[in-house]
Amino acid sequence: MSQPAPPRVIAIDGPAGAGKSSVSAALAARLGFTRLDTGALYRAIGLAALRAGVRAEEGEALRALLADLRVELDGAEVLLDGVAEGDALRRPEVSAAASDFARLPSVRAKLLDLQRAIGAAQACVVDGRDIGTVVFPDAPLKIYLTASARARAERRLLELAAKGMAQPLDEVQREIEARDAQDASRPIAPLRRAEDAVLVDATALGLEEVVARCCGLARGVFGG
Ligand code: CDP
Repeated sequence: MSQPAPPRVIAIDGPAGAGKSSVSAALAARLGFTRLDTGALYRAIGLAALRAGVRAEEGEALRALLADLRVELDGAEVLLDGVAEGDALRRPEVSAAASDFARLPSVRAKLLDLQRAIGAAQACVVDGRDIGTVVFPDAPLKIYLTASARARAERRLLELAAKGMAQPLDEVQREIEARDAQDASRPIAPLRRAEDAVLVDATALGLEEVVARCCGLARGVFGG
């Protein structure tokens, strides 16, 4: 039997605040690919759990929450039980909850098939933590996007301030470093660079430079 064709997926992984969201959105628009923000899926589960008062541990309460919860995509927007949650997904406490719940096997299992089905159906730019290592290990292009912790905190500070969620810079940096440490040290699907991922360090690069570099890599792989 012949092997299934590799997915037309660009996998972009990396730590918090490296610019994966902005780069993925711009790259997808430029290439005419769909964008899949997998972090938003984990954030949706974190938000639902916070609202329901469910703790980040495997158990009956989590099982019931996951069984009832509908997480879907409408274009690039994530719907939680049919509702687009928008900026609520970006709140700092939701970031922390997303990372707490993303450690759990039942949570990752719930989201894996959804991500693979979307990636199999169309050309996609998919960003997250385990896209090149676990979700799409056959992706023809993998990028590991990173930057210094300070640069990432500064980027996140601006993003939060623009949404009316101002926080001191040191606090933002502490939060993203704590989340990266938790994401990188978990036993299942930890944050790490796939061996065949191209490293892009955005510390000294503007968004347009990063997008241009990624676009060049994509054209080298997919043509166009
Ligand atoms: O935007 P930012 O990089 O801060 O975070 P995100 O991509 O929205 O992801 C939020 C959290 O979801 C991460 O800290 C991870 O714990 C989790 N996540 C994951 O475990 N696997 C993914 N593929 C994507 C996100």
